[in-house]
Amino acid sequence: MERQEKCWCKSGEPYETCHKEYDEKIEPLKKKGCFLPPHSLIKNKKQIEGIREACRINTLILDKVASEIKAGMTTEDINRIVHEETLRLGGRPACLGYEGFPKSVCTSVNSVVCHGIPSKKVVLKEGDIVNVDCTTEVNGFYGDSSRMFEIGEVSAEAHKLVTVTKECLDKAVAEIKPFCHVGDIGGIVSKHAKANGFSVVRELGGHGVGLEMHEDPFVSHTAKAGTGMILAPGMVFTIEPMINAGKADICIDESDGWTIYTWDDSLSAQWEYTLLMTENGVEILSK
Ligand code: MF3
Ligand code: CO
Ligand code: CO
Repeated sequence: MERQEKCWCKSGEPYETCHKEYDEKIEPLKKKGCFLPPHSLIKNKKQIEGIREACRINTLILDKVASEIKAGMTTEDINRIVHEETLRLGGRPACLGYEGFPKSVCTSVNSVVCHGIPSKKVVLKEGDIVNVDCTTEVNGFYGDSSRMFEIGEVSAEAHKLVTVTKECLDKAVAEIKPFCHVGDIGGIVSKHAKANGFSVVRELGGHGVGLEMHEDPFVSHTAKAGTGMILAPGMVFTIEPMINAGKADICIDESDGWTIYTWDDSLSAQWEYTLLMTENGVEILSK
């Protein structure tokens, strides 16, 4: 592309002062035969600002859940809080209606790995661990994050699982650098989970996000370091490890088509952030 031409990122700026330097950094990786991200996955400044705002609201919604969640509540109560808070803040609960999902948030209790459907019948009780996973659309941009909540006193094992799962995510965030491989994330997460006697879910993972809820690349938490797509500045994606206290195997509830359980009924935990790859490392956009 010519220096004075408008940049391929659609910023409207001249290529020379926009992504020329980026292309020069990418060139040697291209020569080595690395799997490079397509231009469609590199967000421009305007898009990043839109995603940042969606992520700010996404975080506020989970803050609201954190301030209200307690024993005796149902997961339907959590759904109502997320739905109302999302609308109040000017967003849309993106889970509602997504591929037919019937609620505004996923609530996954104890041996539920992910995609638990909020229900009046599921009452949170002392000792439970629950993941609340919220995706928010604001002005066409998306943020996606989830947290674990411990209801009252939980067992030592449950607490350790929740803590180690967050450490897996935080270690990946601290260690990955621009132009690393997406597989490096799996290497970091697997190593820490295994060192603590836990197992990592293989079939589900993180994903590109921002202009849609789910974009490329798939972010495996079991992949090997040095494999997969290059993570370049301007990419927005989630890391969301699902870690099991027992075996890694999972199964789906055939009656609702959504709820994913651990095969052996062991506990499962998950944390998720939306992240922006920058020139220096990753920036957490929502948590
Ligand atoms: N928030 C989930 C994720 O982290 C996706 C939700 S699936 C839905 O990718 F059906 F509930 F929308
Ligand atoms: Co999510
Ligand atoms: Co996600």
